[in-house]
Amino acid sequence: MRTNGIHANLSSDFVLRKFAGENESNNMKKLLVANWKLNPQTLNEAKKLFKEVSNFKIHDPRFELVICPPFSYLSSIVSHKSSVIGHRSLVKLGAQDVFWEDKGAYTGEVSAAMLKNLGVEYVIIGHSERRRWLNETDEMINKKVLTTLKAGLKVILCAGEPLNIRRKGLVAAKRFVKNQLQNDLKNVSSFKFQVPRLIVAYEPIWAIGTGRPDKPEQTAEMAKFIKDVLGAMFHVSRFPEAEPRRKASFQRGKQVRYPEGETAFSYGAGGAGKFQVLYGGSVNSGNAEMFLEKKEIDGALIGGASVKPKEFGKIIKIAQRLS
Ligand code: 13P
Repeated sequence: MRTNGIHANLSSDFVLRKFAGENESNNMKKLLVANWKLNPQTLNEAKKLFKEVSNFKIHDPRFELVICPPFSYLSSIVSHKSSVIGHRSLVKLGAQDVFWEDKGAYTGEVSAAMLKNLGVEYVIIGHSERRRWLNETDEMINKKVLTTLKAGLKVILCAGEPLNIRRKGLVAAKRFVKNQLQNDLKNVSSFKFQVPRLIVAYEPIWAIGTGRPDKPEQTAEMAKFIKDVLGAMFHVSRFPEAEPRRKASFQRGKQVRYPEGETAFSYGAGGAGKFQVLYGGSVNSGNAEMFLEKKEIDGALIGGASVKPKEFGKIIKIAQRLS
């Protein structure tokens, strides 16, 4: 894709939807991602859980639900998915990790192409549990992000500070998260048209699985900060004054010329408002609304509550109401 001329392929559905104003209002669509982690213990339980979750009424097509089971259940769940809920289901599948190489002598690893071939659309990358227990470094995470974007899958990049940093205050936490994002997203700008496939999940480590979620106001401030960081990294809104004219051209299906180095995504109304930032860390049916009602927070990445169907069902209801 050229970045300094007429972008002939910009009439894709995706770009048109972006320019037609989808996601512009405060009623941005909400995204719920269920991270099952190392649960449940048997395939039968996994199928049952998937069926229960999929059976919740999803009536708003703007709401998106992504289920991320362990690798070992993915292919069975893909087959199960079409038999229990049909292809028209709005439930999407995600993986909890990926490897950065496509093939070769890498025992135990799974490639982005393998996931894509299975029907997976999202990949969680850089979860703090992997950073902690498997010593995943920013460098490894960066390679995973690049490979996954290149494969055309959506990345859910996790970032978040440990408790000792947060104790120093939100400014210190922001600095920590910015540093993670800059390291994890190195060279992503060379995939400019993939940037809309990038979602960041802000998961303060101290809030994960502890029953002590972040304060929604502080999460909203962090989410806005993350969007600003991404905006600066990907040159969003450098020419905001040109936006209305370009948007109108897109709505008429016309091609638009972009200045060197800029992309269609960069001109989305609201600029950095286009990036999706989720919150994760002890989200449950009692607190989900406080996070999801914030316009800066585009959804949630949920661990424990996502494997409890009743509880998760309540969160789905809340998220749809707010979408
Ligand atoms: P909990 O919802 O269990 O706190 O986990 C959050 C998380 O790590 C999601 O990826």
